[in-house]
Amino acid sequence: MNRAYGKMLGVGRALGGRVVTNRDLEAVLDTSDEWISTRTGIRERRFVTEGESCVTLAVEASRRALEHAGVPGSSVDLIICATSTNPESMPSVACLVGEAVGAAGVGAMDLSAACAGFAYAASVAGAMLASGVANRVLLVGADEMTSIVDVKDRSTGILFGDGAGAVVLDRGDGSSGFVDHILGADGRMAPLGRAGHPGDGRRPLYQNGREIFRFAVRMFPEMVEKIMARNGISPDEVQYIIPHQANARIIQAAARKLEVPEEKLVVNVDRFGNTSAASIPLSYPDIYDGLEPGRYIITVGFGFGLTWAANLYRI
Ligand code: UT7
Repeated sequence: MNRAYGKMLGVGRALGGRVVTNRDLEAVLDTSDEWISTRTGIRERRFVTEGESCVTLAVEASRRALEHAGVPGSSVDLIICATSTNPESMPSVACLVGEAVGAAGVGAMDLSAACAGFAYAASVAGAMLASGVANRVLLVGADEMTSIVDVKDRSTGILFGDGAGAVVLDRGDGSSGFVDHILGADGRMAPLGRAGHPGDGRRPLYQNGREIFRFAVRMFPEMVEKIMARNGISPDEVQYIIPHQANARIIQAAARKLEVPEEKLVVNVDRFGNTSAASIPLSYPDIYDGLEPGRYIITVGFGFGLTWAANLYRI
C-alpha cells in the first residue's frame, strides 16, 4: 500500500454573512427561481457583508479548523491558500492568515488555479508533507467571488458565492493522507473564462458556460477513473467524491458516467453556489464525522485557465 501524507486533524469553514436566495435575485434580475434551480441546482448563495472579505473568511475558516483540530496556530509550519480574489495583489492571503492565527514566521503562500485551486494546493501540501519540508500544513481555499463578478449580469451574477474552507493536515504515520494527485492546465482554452482583479468593474468575470460545461462533464469522470485505475482502487473503496461545485448538473452527469450512486458525490452548490477555490473544502464539515478509516476520498477541481486537478486521499 502506498504511503499517505497529510492526515486530516480538523476542518472549518466560513461563509459570507448575507444569504441571497433565488427569490431575492428574481427581484433585481431578469431571472427566475425555476431557471436557476433547474439549470444549476443552486437555491441560495452567501455574499460578504460590510467588513467581510476573502481575507476575513480565510482567517475565520482557519481559526475554526485549528480549533476543531485542537492544535494551536503556532504548531503549523506551512500555510497554503488557494484563491483568485485576494483584495490586494500583495501581501498574500496566506501571510495574513498566519499573522491572525498565531503562525507568523512560518512559510505562507497563495496559489492561483481558479476553481481548481484547492485541488492544486492539496497536491502542494501533500508533496511538502511527503518530502518532510513541512510537518503540519494549514490548507485553505478562499474566494470572494462577488468582488470579480457583475452581480447585475444574470448570466454570471446568479452563479457565485463567497466562502472559505480550511483543513489542518499533519504529516502522520503514512496510513492516512494524500496518496496521489493529477494536475493539468491548457492555456489554449484561456478565452473560455476570464476575470479582472477584485473590484475592477471594467473586467468582470466572463465565461463561455456551455463550453466549460462540456469540458467539465468530460474531464471530471476521466480524472476520477484515471486516479482510481493507477492506484488500483475500486469504486467501492471510495467513500466520497468531492467535486468542485459549479453546477449540480455537471455532478449528476459525472455520477451517471461513473455509475456511482449520487449520494457518493458531495454537493453544496445548492446552499453556497459556486465558491471557486472554497467549494471543495466547504464540504468537509458536512462529512467529517462519518469518514471511515481505510476508505478513500477523491477531490476533483476544474476551472478557468483551463485548469483541472484531482487528489486521492486515504481516510
Ligand atoms: O466554476 C468553474 C467554471 N465554470 C463552470 O463550470 C460553468 C459551467 N457552465 C454552466 O454551469 C452552465 O453553462 C451555466 C449555468 C453557466 C449556463 O447554463 P446553460 O444551460 O448553459 O444556459 P445558456 O448559457 O446556454 O443560456 C440558455 C438561455 C439563454 O437564452 P436564449 O439565448 O436561449 O434565449 C440565456 O440568455 O438562458 C438564458 N439565461 C437566463 N435566463 C434566466 C442565462 N442566464 C439566465 C438567468 N435567468 N439567470
